[in-house]
Amino acid sequence: MDKIIIEGCSRLFGEVEISGSKNAVLPIISASILLDSPIVIKNVPYLRDVVTFMKLLEILGAKINYDKKSLFIDPTTINNFEAPYDLVKTMRASILVLGPLAAKFGKAKVSLPGGCAIGARPVNFHVSAMKKFGANVEIEDGYINLNSKKLNGCFYCFDIPSVTGTENVMMAGTLADGDTIIENAATEPEVTDLANFLVASGAKIDGIGTNKLTIKGVTKLKPKKDYSVIADRIETATFMIASAITEGNILIKNSNINHLDAVVNKLRDVGVKITKESDGIRVVGPGVIKSVDIQTSPYPGFPTDVQAQLMALMCFSKGLSVIKETIFENRFMHSNELMRMDADIQIQGNTAIVRGKESLTGAKVMASDLRASASLILAGLRAKGKTEVSRIYHLDRGYERFDLKLEKLNAKIERSKE
Ligand code: EPZ
Repeated sequence: MDKIIIEGCSRLFGEVEISGSKNAVLPIISASILLDSPIVIKNVPYLRDVVTFMKLLEILGAKINYDKKSLFIDPTTINNFEAPYDLVKTMRASILVLGPLAAKFGKAKVSLPGGCAIGARPVNFHVSAMKKFGANVEIEDGYINLNSKKLNGCFYCFDIPSVTGTENVMMAGTLADGDTIIENAATEPEVTDLANFLVASGAKIDGIGTNKLTIKGVTKLKPKKDYSVIADRIETATFMIASAITEGNILIKNSNINHLDAVVNKLRDVGVKITKESDGIRVVGPGVIKSVDIQTSPYPGFPTDVQAQLMALMCFSKGLSVIKETIFENRFMHSNELMRMDADIQIQGNTAIVRGKESLTGAKVMASDLRASASLILAGLRAKGKTEVSRIYHLDRGYERFDLKLEKLNAKIERSKE
């Protein structure tokens, strides 16, 4: 297993290119199952989760080829409808094949993903929605077994917005008989990117970008040409915070600032200067990091996927910051490791109270999940001395060459074997 070693206190400067979005490309790869012909997806980041999803599609029988950020998928050879436990347990997003397999083939055997470090991560909305489409769904031996002659368009209202839940229902609706209406849909940019991909392939979807989606079922989907995935807004936010934490001055390229209003507003309250330039987003870190309070919420609120990174920044703030995590029940694992670096954090239920300090001290720490690993590296950029972050495979699930990109920005960082 790899670890990353960071020597603290170097200011970041220079330019960084943002990769394609992990949480947009995974549902779009899954949506290729619906297509009657091959597709090339562009701006695909080379991540562990992308490689895992490619393996899953090959297990289903699709032909796949990845070359220089382009992913060729030929779904016309799919002849297997089972997503096995051994693969699904390594990547929960595998649940995203349920809707497309149900819609295209009327059968699916998808392992229940089980929980992960940040929470139980139930999929009850996905299962109940498939039943609403008229499919026969049984849970047996840890698998979702689905059979259905043809899906019938339905009305589905989410109890709470679910990103992959909305994506599964939207994909299933594209080939269902009649109309499907989704209420209380998630409106994350990644959901919108999937909808745009489906419409580019002939789907009929109204209300894109809103929390009410109407999908008019069609008989087949054929991509017009290739499709380029949006930039990763969570990676963008992570580099904004990297500049903020090191009093840096960086230019972030290939990203869309409009997907990050809540984060940009909060970082401006911290004292970070964020301005749009002709070729990117300029982010200049403040001399004094002001403390702010945040509460995570579904888009367009403050994203839960940036909570851990902001907590690292607040460890160095002047004052006290209250961080409330409302989406996942166990998404403070990074706080225990930050406390090993002498951070002053108190956890009370789903709230973390962070008392900022002049500095932290480098230490050996352990990554527990994807965004926690980014948070620990960010803290190591400013902490005095050396920080060693182990179990870096978590980081590689969702960041493309994160350590190399930071090194190019003048961070003293290296990857080595544990
Ligand atoms: C997506 O996960 C993202 N993953 C997550 O990103 C992200 O944190 C999350 O949305 C919230 O924005 C992908 O897009 C691949 P949800 P998802 O369904 O869809 C509850 C990262 O770091 N819920 O929107 O699994 C659930 O427990 C990852 O990149 C049910 O109760 O999240 C949570 O409290 C981590 N039943 C809330 O809904 C269900 O059937 C929102 O979860 C489904 C969800």
